[in-house]
Amino acid sequence: MITPEARAKPSASPPAEAPLLEIRDLRLDFLKDGHALRAVDGVSFSLNAGESICLVGESGCGKSVTALSIARLVPTPPARYAGGEIRVNGQDVLKMSPRELRAIRGGVVSYIFQEPGASLNPVFRVGSQILESLQLHRPDAATPDEVIRLLKLVGIPAPESRMRDYPHQLSGGMQQRVMIAMALASHPRLLVADEPTTALDVTIQAQIIDLLRELRRQIGMSLLLITHNLGIVGDLADRVAVMYAGQIVEYAPASELLARPLHPYTQALMNSVPKLRASGERLQAIPGSVPNLGAFPSGCRFHPRCPKAQAQCSTTAPDWLEAGPGHWVRCPFWQT
Ligand SMILES: Nc1ncnc2c1ncn2[C@@H]1O[C@H](COP(=O)(O)OP(=O)(O)OP(=O)(O)O)[C@@H](O)[C@H]1O
Ligand SMILES: [Mg+2]
Repeated sequence: MITPEARAKPSASPPAEAPLLEIRDLRLDFLKDGHALRAVDGVSFSLNAGESICLVGESGCGKSVTALSIARLVPTPPARYAGGEIRVNGQDVLKMSPRELRAIRGGVVSYIFQEPGASLNPVFRVGSQILESLQLHRPDAATPDEVIRLLKLVGIPAPESRMRDYPHQLSGGMQQRVMIAMALASHPRLLVADEPTTALDVTIQAQIIDLLRELRRQIGMSLLLITHNLGIVGDLADRVAVMYAGQIVEYAPASELLARPLHPYTQALMNSVPKLRASGERLQAIPGSVPNLGAFPSGCRFHPRCPKAQAQCSTTAPDWLEAGPGHWVRCPFWQT
């Protein structure tokens, strides 16, 4: 399957510059007990330089493995790249040599993850960990001054003394800022932030989201943000891809998706987002759970949990429909 945008403009002239990232029909399996279980099934999206996209969906729907695939970071085995293309700056990551991959990792694409504490080495001072990242990717800039500049950039007060702290001397929010500084040390063109705020408390979450927004503005890098919380999407994303059971089911500009969610799954996700002013209103969890790998339902994978399901949903896999400009949905009943 090709990208929704490509379908919209089949014969449009190619853009002057290739997108920074273009994923086409990505398929990834996990091998288990002699079976190949498909975890990512035909995922396509693209991202231009400076743009941000958000991947949302419940736990286990394939957000992280999709994002890790961009730098071919899913270990093989147990995984196997079963098909598709991942083009970074026009070059297919799935065909790169180990040397080309090393250049992409950190150099073009940097990652930050949910648990900053788990990614920092407890026995080294945070300054030296940032310095190490600099030595790896920008040796000419590997100086204490640059470490201080990066710590300032991510909003760490008194960086001259903080750089001598060990990770455990910092709060969770400060640790996450250090992780972001390490990720930025290489001057990545794309920052992948996988649930960067989930392990933090609510006020710190808001601060980290503000920081990411400010960094995007200052540095102009692209951002791929992964979250299961649609509430933070509007703040950060230009576009949103909603994932369910290894597939994208809705794809739209962020403001459009938030104002007009069309897929029943997206609507259900929206209903499970805490609304700030609706005090007393209960959060709705989506009934049922994400199916396990290898046990995806036939037809539309969401149909057993879908309030709008019709007979055909259990037999026919829905194709992409363009419901509005740039707004794609994989549900034939989006108008009902
Ligand atoms: N190393 C692995 N070996 C086997 N299966 C895996 C492995 N990593 C991920 N999976 C499976 O692939 C599917 C997608 O996992 P993934 O981590 O991408 O989900 P996710 O959308 O990021 O969820 P979460 O919100 O919990 O982080 C899940 O069913 C998961 O169990
Ligand atoms: Mg994940």
